[in-house]
Amino acid sequence: MSDWIASRGTPLHGEIAVPGDKSISHRAIMLGAIADGVTRIEGFLEGEDTRATAAIFAQLGVRIDAPSDGVRIVHGVGLHGLRAPPEPLDCGNSGTAMRLLAGLLAGQRFDSVLVGDESLSKRPMRRVIEPLATMGARIDSDDGCAPLRIRGGRELHGVDCTLPVASAQLKSALLLAGLYARGETHVREPHPTRDYTERMLASFGAACAFVPGEAALLGGFPLQAREIRVPADFSSAAFFLVAASTVPDSDLVLRKVGMNPRRTGLLQVLRTMGADIVESDASEEGGEPVADLRVRHAPLHGIEVPAECVPDMIDEFPALFVAAACAEGTTVVRGAAELRVKESDRIATMAEGLRVLGIRVDETPDGASIHGGTLRGGEADSHGDHRIAMAFAAAAQRAQGEVRIGDVANVATSFPGFDALARSCGFGLRPA
Ligand code: S3P
Repeated sequence: MSDWIASRGTPLHGEIAVPGDKSISHRAIMLGAIADGVTRIEGFLEGEDTRATAAIFAQLGVRIDAPSDGVRIVHGVGLHGLRAPPEPLDCGNSGTAMRLLAGLLAGQRFDSVLVGDESLSKRPMRRVIEPLATMGARIDSDDGCAPLRIRGGRELHGVDCTLPVASAQLKSALLLAGLYARGETHVREPHPTRDYTERMLASFGAACAFVPGEAALLGGFPLQAREIRVPADFSSAAFFLVAASTVPDSDLVLRKVGMNPRRTGLLQVLRTMGADIVESDASEEGGEPVADLRVRHAPLHGIEVPAECVPDMIDEFPALFVAAACAEGTTVVRGAAELRVKESDRIATMAEGLRVLGIRVDETPDGASIHGGTLRGGEADSHGDHRIAMAFAAAAQRAQGEVRIGDVANVATSFPGFDALARSCGFGLRPA
C-alpha cells in the first residue's frame, strides 16, 4: 500500500493545467464505440477509471488506438456492432463505468458480467438495476451489489421515470438503455445533475432533448462519430483552488478548466466563503465552457452550504471540508447523504482524518458541521479514495506538522501525476 508524506511547502505559484474531465472521457469512449464512423478524442483522461472503460470496449470488439498521451481514436462499430465479451468486464474503481455500462449493455443481444474492485463491489447498484428493469432489462446482482450479470436479448421499451436520487450516472444509464428501447425514454431528476450524456448524445445525432432536470430520448436512431475535445476536470482543479485559497501568499493560475455550471458549485461556495478566484479567457472547447481560473490566498469564513448547490459540487466535498477546516467559524453541510456511497463514505472519512489533524467535525446522517481551527500533523487514512487522498494533501499545506496520508494508489484513477504537478507549484508532498 503506498502512502504520502505531505507538509507545508511554499506559497503556490505558477500556471498549471490539470488533466481531462473524467465524466466526459468515459462518455466519449462509450458513444464513440457505438457510433458509425471514427471518433477522435483529444484531452482524454489517462486515468485508471477511463482506461478501464476503454479496455472494456476493446473486449466488446471495438478498436481503440492510442497514438499519443491523451488521444484516442475510436473505430465505432455502430449501435448493434458490439461483440459478446469472452470474460467479465472489469470496471475497476469506477462507479461511472459500471452504472453507465449497465444501461448500455442491457440493450445488447448478448449476456455480459460487470465486476469491480473491493470499493466498487460495495456500492449500491439497485438504484440502477430497478429503473432499468422497468424498461424490460434483466440484471442479477449480489444483493444489490456487483458483480452485475446482465441478460442480453431483452426487448427494451421506453419509460417515463422520476429518479429517486439526483444522479447523473442513473440518468445516463437510462438514456443509454433508451438508445436500444422502443419508443421514448423520459428521465426526470429531483435536482439537475451534470448533463454530459445528453449533450454528447445530441451532438452525435441522437434524438435527444433536454432541459435542466429532464431528458428525453427516442430509441433506435444511429449515432454519428465526431471529434471530441475534453476540457480539464473541474473536480481535479478543486484541490488547487482550495490549497491556493488557504496558503498565504499563493497566486496560482489553472488553465482552461471545464466550467459546466452543473460542476462548478464549489466555485460559488468558495467565493461566498471569501475566496479570491477570478475567471478569464472564457471560451468553448468541444461545446463545453472553459476558462482560466486565477486563485489568490484570501481569508475564508464558514458558511451554511446551500442545499441546492450539493449536486453541482458532489465530488468536491472532500476539498470543501479542507477549506472549511482552514476557515474562521463553522461550515455546515446538509442534504449530502449521497457522499456516504461514493468511493468511500466521504462524510466519515473526511471527519475521521480532520479530527486526527485537530479539527472538530460533528457528523450528521446527511452532512457535517466543520469547525475551522488549526491543523496539526498526524496520520490521515484515505480509505483508498482518490479524492480523500488529494484533499488531505491540500490540508497538509496548512498543517503545523507532517501529515502521513495512507493508501493513495487510487489517486491514479482520476488524477495520474497529481503529486508531481502539486510539487511543481509549491506543495510539500513526497512518497512515504
Ligand atoms: C458522475 C456522476 C456523479 C459523480 C461521479 C461521476 C458521472 O455520480 O459523483 O464522480 O460521470 O456521471 P452520481 O451521478 O451518482 O452522483
